[in-house]
Amino acid sequence: MTPLHDVIINKKTTINPIWIMRQAGRYLPEFREIRKNNPNFIELCLNHKLSSEITLQPIKRFDLDAAIIFSDILMIPYGLKQKVEFKKNFGPMLGNLNITEMSKIDEIDFVERIYPVYKAIKSVSLKMELKNKNTIGFVGAPWTLLVYMINQQSPKKNIKKNFFEDDYLINRILLIIERFLKIHIKNQVENGANVIQIFDSWAGLLEERDYPNYIYTPTLNLVNYVKSLEIPVICFPREIKNYKEFCEIVKPDALNIDYNVDPLMISKNIKIPVQGGLDPKILLTDKDNLKKQVLKYLDIFKDHPYVFNLGHGILPETDPKMVECLIKTVRDY
Ligand code: CP3
Repeated sequence: MTPLHDVIINKKTTINPIWIMRQAGRYLPEFREIRKNNPNFIELCLNHKLSSEITLQPIKRFDLDAAIIFSDILMIPYGLKQKVEFKKNFGPMLGNLNITEMSKIDEIDFVERIYPVYKAIKSVSLKMELKNKNTIGFVGAPWTLLVYMINQQSPKKNIKKNFFEDDYLINRILLIIERFLKIHIKNQVENGANVIQIFDSWAGLLEERDYPNYIYTPTLNLVNYVKSLEIPVICFPREIKNYKEFCEIVKPDALNIDYNVDPLMISKNIKIPVQGGLDPKILLTDKDNLKKQVLKYLDIFKDHPYVFNLGHGILPETDPKMVECLIKTVRDY
């Protein structure tokens, strides 16, 4: 058993494994070096040699407990032939969605378009197995992918007023997303991913009355699918209003919390293993403050199966020395 499995599956409370959301990314000079010569982000994700190298960069540097594959949740629309680009200082930009064309895409077309992701997972997972560490595969939740595919860019604070106007179209897209998410999960697992994380980064945009249709039901379908593959699944429904209800309905193996959630409330109300929480901005302050805030989470979750992580992705301006300090504080605890 790996340390991460021990916490998620065996619910042990004696260790705090640690990995970091967006651990392979722009705060690392060795990543920026590769990125400099590879301006097209999707192409970089599809270069299996470079994407496995990037995935392993934070493992080499910090000996973290899990690798998360260098890819993106938007590989799904890309695989479905919707144009996906990343503009500097803007984020993702997607092309128009053509539902007729999208409906014609089959499993073989889709897998062919993104197979280097699976090749990278294979080579990374072989290395991670030797270290007795996990390889985390991931997907965006159906709702978050729907937001990007319809909105064609990050929604910032709101979705367009007419977002739900064409509910026939929305339901057709959701069915396609769900089908290909399962294909994507299956291929990641077959190539060595041994934990799956589902990112619902935009769950917080919905009204509670819309949770059953757009969060609970589609996420539960995916969670059950991952469980059928006998792989643990971590859910990250960012800024959702009711975590307890989410866990009772969706029943993931573990819950990743964001930094706006009160960890004390979570430790009291949530029975399953918890991951994450620390505000990534704390890493931009000083070491004393960082240690204090890290210890706060460790103390609150000392009798709870807990995986240390942040409450959202690490910021590009983070000093790697602060990451070292964070990891040491967790390991020394
Ligand atoms: O290290 C890792 O965590 C693995 C790789 C990973 C990336 N994206 C790489 C990436 C993972 C797990 C993701 C998930 C992802 N992607 C999410 C869910 C988590 C979250 O942040 O809420 C979302 C919403 C996306 C979509 C996405 N991709 C956005 C909004 C952006 C632009 C914002 C930004 O940070 O620049 C990306 C680009 C992206 N994905 C980068 C990386 C390393 C930055 C690429 C670069 O410019 O070098």
